[in-house]
Amino acid sequence: MTNPQTFINLQTPPDLTSKEFANNKYKYFEWMRQEAPVAHCKYVTGKAYVVSRYKDCVTLLNDSRVVRDNRKIDTSSPLLPSFIPLPKSSELLLHSMIGSDEPDHKRLRSLVHQAFTRKSMAELSDRIEKLTNNLLDKAEAKSKAQGSVNLKEAYALSIPVNVIQEMMGISDEDMPRFYEGIEAVIKGFSGVRIILTMLWDLPRLSNFVRELIDRKRENPGNDMLTGLIQAEEEGQKLSEDEIVSMVFLIIAAGYQTTVHLITN
Ligand code: HEM
Repeated sequence: MTNPQTFINLQTPPDLTSKEFANNKYKYFEWMRQEAPVAHCKYVTGKAYVVSRYKDCVTLLNDSRVVRDNRKIDTSSPLLPSFIPLPKSSELLLHSMIGSDEPDHKRLRSLVHQAFTRKSMAELSDRIEKLTNNLLDKAEAKSKAQGSVNLKEAYALSIPVNVIQEMMGISDEDMPRFYEGIEAVIKGFSGVRIILTMLWDLPRLSNFVRELIDRKRENPGNDMLTGLIQAEEEGQKLSEDEIVSMVFLIIAAGYQTTVHLITN
């Protein structure tokens, strides 16, 4: 049991997107588990409740009254009142597979699973190994030349971008357009920047992915985007919107997690 005095300097309610929270996250997690098992927090434009004890999480995840799809409950906020319809590309980002309930989640998962075959994963891991060795060799050369190297800049930030490029089978010529979109998904949701992201950057990324889908329908590649296009289960296929949403999810779920795993 940690002495509650240890938590005296923590801000309450915690702001989950603040730098202060990021710099003290383990202390906050300890405070939550010990003092606030259902902690009321600030999150982007709204509020969130963080459940931090393992047993409570298991109970919640198995409770059918608890839903993932936030369209089933009122999430409106002063900045995003519910009567303002979201642009389609924002809907596709906010309501992807990870935020869907049964039976939709199972349907999407079984189709998406067809693109993540053992064979495609094995091929991808060979390419990832080559890529990471390349990046590490360059980082080592740089540290020899300069005496030190920033691991995040030289290695961690490049990995998810390059791997997602490989997964989607995107050419180097097309990468600047895709990279703009990755930046929007990863960095575009803080402060007033949200407006530009929702009205300009995300629609541009969505159009780009749709263009890619058209091209891969014509000219299938040996990549996961082609796999998502071709996936079929009992006559059911992923709609174009669901494929775009899945690409958004892979960016959102695959980027920060990987960077933070390497640099944490
Ligand atoms: C350190 C690395 C990672 C960690 C710790 C991590 C953790 C997680 C967790 C906890 C979930 C479940 C979330 C939930 O149920 O609400 C999840 C889901 C998911 N992650 Fe990751 N992840 C990592 C890397 C990645 C990468 C690299 C990708 C893709 C390139 C990815 C794609 C996904 C997808 C698509 C889902 C949704 C699965 C579903 O809804 O069935 N993740 N991840």
